[in-house]
Amino acid sequence: MVKSASPPDRYGLLGHPVEHSRSPLIHQLFARQTGQRLTYELIDATPQGFETAVLAFSAAGGKGLNVTVPHKQAAFELAREVSAAASKARAVNTLTFGGKALRGDNTDGTGFLRDVTVNQRQPIAGRSVLILGAGGAARGIMGPLLEAGPRELALANRTSERADQIVKQFRAHGKVTPIPFAHLDTLAPFDIVINATSAGLKGDAAPFPGTLIGPRSFCYDLVYSLNDTPFVIWARNHGAERAVQGWGMLVEQAAESFHIWRGVRPDTAPILKQLVR
Ligand code: ATR
Repeated sequence: MVKSASPPDRYGLLGHPVEHSRSPLIHQLFARQTGQRLTYELIDATPQGFETAVLAFSAAGGKGLNVTVPHKQAAFELAREVSAAASKARAVNTLTFGGKALRGDNTDGTGFLRDVTVNQRQPIAGRSVLILGAGGAARGIMGPLLEAGPRELALANRTSERADQIVKQFRAHGKVTPIPFAHLDTLAPFDIVINATSAGLKGDAAPFPGTLIGPRSFCYDLVYSLNDTPFVIWARNHGAERAVQGWGMLVEQAAESFHIWRGVRPDTAPILKQLVR
């Protein structure tokens, strides 16, 4: 009798909602490219059901989970040990199960930085950078951005208390200047403008003054969509040199997670091409 092969290792994405996620496709393409046997599923869990869903997946033999909105902070609380990146962001997007250990990593920031500096060829060092927004998305990219040594890092949020909180949280890692939203139109253009708000997710126009953008500005939207996002349209309309959305970050953070789980780093360029096509 032929012994059946062991089942493929199980991974997945846990979020709420998750049904439109591209992560299963991305991880399937990574697995095919690197010759790894694994499955990647979508798991929808409400905040109340988050911990039970993680523990059930682990008990059923699951090897690792990506975690997305709104669970990244809950994942940070649940992990027994966390990486330096996760500890700085106080958020986890990658859980790895191994025996009793539950390890939490955060690959959002490194994925973002890799997309900006490698794929988009935009250096951070010595340049002025503005982050719009102060939620989980902004927190995820702050640490790696500060490490990359911008000349100036400013952060503006509609609710100024949230901007102040982030600035305080990252004080030990570098200087971040909080900017009141009402003062945005008094500032000179930035070299790099990053949209980390959820404004525009429903298709509304980006609510920022066009004076933030100059002819050499590079604009990056952490949001991604099959069409141009409102932020990208806004940036182009105000004469940005280039405006891109976050497909590259999505693929790069997934590649970092895949590397953590499988020990192999996929070549992201062909996957990104395939996805955006
Ligand atoms: P995420 O984890 O995706 O960052 P979040 O924590 O809910 O989500 O944060 C959403 C961000 O988008 C916040 O910075 C929010 O600003 P407030 O802190 O003032 O709520 C910002 N945001 C959402 N809608 C916005 C809008 N119409 N104009 C400006 N900022 C907006």
